[in-house]
Amino acid sequence: MLSFHSQKQAIASAFGKAASSYDASAAFQRRAGLQLIHDMPHFDLPQKVLDLGCGTGYFSHEWQKAGHKVTCLDLSPAMLAQAQQRCGDQADYLVGDAEHLPLADSSFDVAFSSLALQWCDDLSKPLAEMRRVVRPGGVIAFTTLVDGSLEELASAWRKIDEYQHINQFLSEKLIKIALAQAASPDCQLHFRKIVQYYSHAKDLMKDLKGIGATQLQQPRRSGLGGRAVLRKIEEAYDVHRHANGLLPATYHVCFGVIINE
Ligand SMILES: C[S@@+](CC[C@H](N)C(=O)[O-])C[C@H]1O[C@@H](n2cnc3c(N)ncnc32)[C@H](O)[C@@H]1O
Repeated sequence: MLSFHSQKQAIASAFGKAASSYDASAAFQRRAGLQLIHDMPHFDLPQKVLDLGCGTGYFSHEWQKAGHKVTCLDLSPAMLAQAQQRCGDQADYLVGDAEHLPLADSSFDVAFSSLALQWCDDLSKPLAEMRRVVRPGGVIAFTTLVDGSLEELASAWRKIDEYQHINQFLSEKLIKIALAQAASPDCQLHFRKIVQYYSHAKDLMKDLKGIGATQLQQPRRSGLGGRAVLRKIEEAYDVHRHANGLLPATYHVCFGVIINE
């Protein structure tokens, strides 16, 4: 097993390598984050917003366009460089870890984090950190993946070998426990299914690689990805093909909105 710090470095490096391909492969991530913004209260006045695990800054820019002052924070310097290209000098940029935010208490009105927290070892830590850096009465909003996500691809791989190829995600119950451990006040939680459709399994795998979601919790077996293996995956995935002729990739997503105390 990798140590805590080398695991973080490996995550930062996997996302960093994908920084320039991310946007072209992130249709699902855009759907999830836009839904999260929709779940949040509307702000009439400018807010100080932390975009935690901002990636290429798509949502940082959405907040900025709506008139808010944004701090972009990510584990990956290369992702932050993309965010800076998108958001320019009006935003602040910070390399940091969601589990130990290099930020003062009560320094933000809003902490927004979409699809970054599933990369943390202990979900209660970034939740507690977001509570700490947001002022009382401010808003914390997050999405994270739930177990069962990408089950079609996981089951196709299970027909080929016994190795873990898809990261495991927390159950709804464990997410609720993490919220309780972070002493969260009432949280508006929604669990929703989002399905992306592909012509071929390889197109889904290309998107996962394109966004940098390639760092596994378990060591990976080498020598994967040969043509024969890919053909077997296509065959195994094909049992899920819909009447519309397309293959579903199902994500289970937790949407949380907390009014801080
Ligand atoms: C799937 S991307 C999501 C990016 C953006 N929020 C979006 O929705 O498009 C996940 C991002 O979280 C970052 N990340 C992963 N673990 C992190 C951590 N512990 N602290 C801060 N950022 C982290 C990655 O570097 C990556 O940029």
